[in-house]
Amino acid sequence: MSSYNEEHELNPQEPPSRKEMSRRQFLTYTLGGATAFMGAGAILPMVRFAVDPILHKKGEGEFIKVAEASKITNEPQEFNFELKQQDGWYASTATLTAWIRKDESGEIYALSPICKHLGCTVGWNNDKAFPDEYHCPCHGARYTKLGKNLAVAPKPLDQYKTKIDGGWVYLGDIIPNTEAKKEA
Ligand code: FES
Repeated sequence: MSSYNEEHELNPQEPPSRKEMSRRQFLTYTLGGATAFMGAGAILPMVRFAVDPILHKKGEGEFIKVAEASKITNEPQEFNFELKQQDGWYASTATLTAWIRKDESGEIYALSPICKHLGCTVGWNNDKAFPDEYHCPCHGARYTKLGKNLAVAPKPLDQYKTKIDGGWVYLGDIIPNTEAKKEA
């Protein structure tokens, strides 16, 4: 009876046996796996560096110093401030506006000037026919001092998240109005 090696040497054209294939595959997989592992270790930090600006959207959740708290009056005042934004790899600066006032109890809040009808910019006390209201010049929307919608617009003006720190008013993200419901 001949051994396997003897048979194989006698028939060099014979395809490799299942046992030889397994050994070869094992080496191939082992080397391939080790190469892939080392390659991933080198490439992943580069991928993370490249994708990082997309994963971290900057500008959200931040508060910006806008006005001295002592300068805020019962009459709404317009303040402009800059917001640095990072959209992917594109950095930009947007100029935003807030109408800031304090109510009778001294609480300070800030309204967004973006009209809730179609997005024009409202102004305070800018329509002589309707004094002491916000008025939108585009289609005539009107709002109270607290931002409550009186005509045309379907919702109250949005407001900014507000915090007072060290005598300064800081504004954050724009949120739905919480002041208008205080109005009867
Ligand atoms: S956009 Fe303000 S009234 Fe239409």
